[in-house]
Amino acid sequence: MRDVAPAPTRGRVLPRNDPRQYDDLAGEWWRPDGVFAMLHWLAEARAALVPPADRPDALLVDLGCGAGLLAPHLAGRGYRHVGVDLTRSALVQAAEHGVKPVNGDATAVPLADGCADVVAAGELLEHVPDWRRVVAEACRLLRPGGLLVLDTLNDTLLSRIVAVHLGERLPTVPKGIHDPRLFVDDRELIAECARHGVALRVRGVRPEVGGLLGWLLRRVRGAQAPAGRAPRIVPTRSAAVLYQGWGVRKG
Ligand SMILES: C[S@@+](CC[C@H](N)C(=O)[O-])C[C@H]1O[C@@H](n2cnc3c(N)ncnc32)[C@H](O)[C@@H]1O
Repeated sequence: MRDVAPAPTRGRVLPRNDPRQYDDLAGEWWRPDGVFAMLHWLAEARAALVPPADRPDALLVDLGCGAGLLAPHLAGRGYRHVGVDLTRSALVQAAEHGVKPVNGDATAVPLADGCADVVAAGELLEHVPDWRRVVAEACRLLRPGGLLVLDTLNDTLLSRIVAVHLGERLPTVPKGIHDPRLFVDDRELIAECARHGVALRVRGVRPEVGGLLGWLLRRVRGAQAPAGRAPRIVPTRSAAVLYQGWGVRKG
């Protein structure tokens, strides 16, 4: 495994998982057929785990919010949406989509204990050298009864093959964005959440095959291709590659 990869837009070579890649890719976030397309599909699936707010002024804290792709899928659910991210260029775009931006590290979030009704951590844990600290912060931010929702990549050989070796050959995964050494074992994640009072349930998810093939075909055919719908993220039996987790913080 190479541990450096050419960054896609500025021709510079950055280490795998270097956050400066998100600056180089800033123009891609909101392109539905861009290299972050799959993040749009995952955001829709993550939002489906979030019920409408059960009180006025409810707060959803979106750790590693990127450019706020979750925001449109939460419209009308009654949350104030605060996004925490290291990457300022992404936060500027998140703010344009109604997210209150907080430039900070998900391992040391400048928000009060128990402030959040929901904490989301979409495609974040596998990018953080110490994901346990993110879990501790997420659980600290949750009020008793609050909901944690997340998705991430499992620490398996299959995940390394699918998400890195194969995925990076497709236009759905930016080259060099993942460092497989940071992938997150689902059992360890469940145990860590339990230590912080959240009983996490997990399930494997994947893009539906027909939708993904149709999307890839449209990408290849470019402008001549008829418009089609985005692939849906669906549950799958194995959590060995990509999985969602959700759980409520004990009172
Ligand atoms: C793969 S993107 C996911 C973005 C968003 N959650 C989504 O699903 O569209 C990972 C994001 O995490 C951010 N990030 C990485 N490490 C972080 C950290 N320690 N604290 C806060 N944000 C971080 C990156 O800047 C990037 O925006």
